[in-house]
Amino acid sequence: MIAVVGATGNIGRATVKELRALGEDPVCIVRNADKAREVLGADVRTTTADLNDRSAVERALSGVDRLFVVTGGTPQLGELEMNVLNAAKAAGVKWLVKLAGGKCVSQPDSGSLLGRGHYAVEEALKQSGLGWVILRPGLFMQNTLAQAPLIKSESKMALAFPKDLPLAFIDTRDVGALAARVVRDPAKHASQSIEFTGVITNYGQFAQVFSEVLGRPIAYVGLTLEQAEQGMKARGMPEWLVDHMLTIARLAAQGEFSIENMQPFRDIVGRAPASTKQFVQDHKAMFS
Ligand SMILES: NC(=O)c1ccc[n+]([C@@H]2O[C@H](COP(=O)([O-])OP(=O)(O)OC[C@H]3O[C@@H](n4cnc5c(N)ncnc54)[C@H](OP(=O)(O)O)[C@@H]3O)[C@@H](O)[C@H]2O)c1
Repeated sequence: MIAVVGATGNIGRATVKELRALGEDPVCIVRNADKAREVLGADVRTTTADLNDRSAVERALSGVDRLFVVTGGTPQLGELEMNVLNAAKAAGVKWLVKLAGGKCVSQPDSGSLLGRGHYAVEEALKQSGLGWVILRPGLFMQNTLAQAPLIKSESKMALAFPKDLPLAFIDTRDVGALAARVVRDPAKHASQSIEFTGVITNYGQFAQVFSEVLGRPIAYVGLTLEQAEQGMKARGMPEWLVDHMLTIARLAAQGEFSIENMQPFRDIVGRAPASTKQFVQDHKAMFS
């Protein structure tokens, strides 16, 4: 049996959808049953456990042999995923497929708390005795959803990335498509860290795609790190998240997200990853 942790999030819900389309009936480990029903549909199998509660997770994993784990939106990422790993070991899970960040982010001395958390979990996973696969997607196209209010009110995007900096994005729905196939047959990818991205572009071109699809000009404003930091703090963003965002922006400026790597996706999923145009078309209502 396959289980998915983080099933109500961007990647998790896409992974569940793909698994079901492939004929699997995964069990989703969720903390909020109402949200799960709303996001995943009433016919998806769920079991409730907060990832802070290791014994509840262990119970939820009873009978599971393959597990996909993604968490996010929390400074506790490292602790929560460590709980899941230990619960998986205790419950007799055979394979754990972990969604991580890029290698440049998953470092013991990363400026990002999430990066340090990912690194600690990855190292523990490799030593755990479980079969493992680590997935390292490129930057998410869905990061632009946070720009929706600005796009709607001022027809612009403003981020801490230079307008012409090459960036290899991927749609989280594609991350789910790849994750589903890997967790379905993890032995094929045993002990591999799979790096994958969609097509390379830059934010200037991305804004142009928004303009074409939305039918009005959308400007792109590249912020300095100082401007971005001031803006995030003024909006009340917690310090750990500001540090994470600035770490990503600094690594990007060094070219760390500028390498296109589409072949792993093509090999595993058997099609091309989504374009930025497809992404904007599919989310048009959120930006209009
Ligand atoms: N943004 C990027 O460009 C990028 C690039 C590469 C890798 N990544 C990695 O991608 C991951 C984020 O993926 P995502 O966008 O799919 O995340 P997400 O949408 O924020 O989803 C996070 C999931 O974790 C669940 N969760 C969090 N705390 C929990 C708890 N205490 N108990 C139970 N469930 C809990 C959430 O449940 P609820 O729905 O109940 O909150 C949700 O299902 C991060 O690990 C990040 O480092 C991001």
